Amino acid sequence: MEIIEIITRSPEETESLGRRIGSCLAGHETIALFGGLGMGKTAFVRGLAAGLGVDANEISSPTFAIVHEHEAPGGAMLYHFDMYRVESWDDLYSTGFFDYLGRGVVVTEWSENIEGALPVERITIEIASPDHDDTRIFRVQGLSGEVALT
Ligand SMILES: Nc1ncnc2c1ncn2[C@@H]1O[C@H](COP(=O)(O)OP(=O)(O)O)[C@@H](O)[C@H]1O
Ligand SMILES: [Mg+2]
Repeated sequence: MEIIEIITRSPEETESLGRRIGSCLAGHETIALFGGLGMGKTAFVRGLAAGLGVDANEISSPTFAIVHEHEAPGGAMLYHFDMYRVESWDDLYSTGFFDYLGRGVVVTEWSENIEGALPVERITIEIASPDHDDTRIFRVQGLSGEVALT
């Protein structure tokens, strides 16, 4: 499948990328974010939320809660997972992850930890920072070609 590459150079640009993607979702997609600490996963989700109509200020890393549920005024749901502390299938089952799939937009930080459990039908986003500066390369796979990202 086609991979789209987008470069951002600030947290604001990453948020704006998230907003553009969020605003063209149907509302039941699963988005798996890959990329280590400080890559901008949470910044991206902040924008994604805004694109769905959720207040971006509500967004924080659900490191301890594991999932945060957000409802947009229009009723759209955003389920924001952080899999950092999920280390086994038992852990994952107890988060209720599988029950959330398809009920709203599900976005997962630290997807590395649940790679074998991700649904085949998903949007995959890998974030890298090859120069160890503010540049972030987003490799997006599974997004429908309709989305204008430029
Ligand atoms: N292009 C960029 N996109 C997103 N964040 C960036 C970018 N450049 C620098 N940053 C910084 O990287 C950090 C990203 O934090 P965060 O979104 O919490 O990452 P993660 O959730 O992947 O750990 C922030 O401190 C932010 O200021
Ligand atoms: Mg985070």
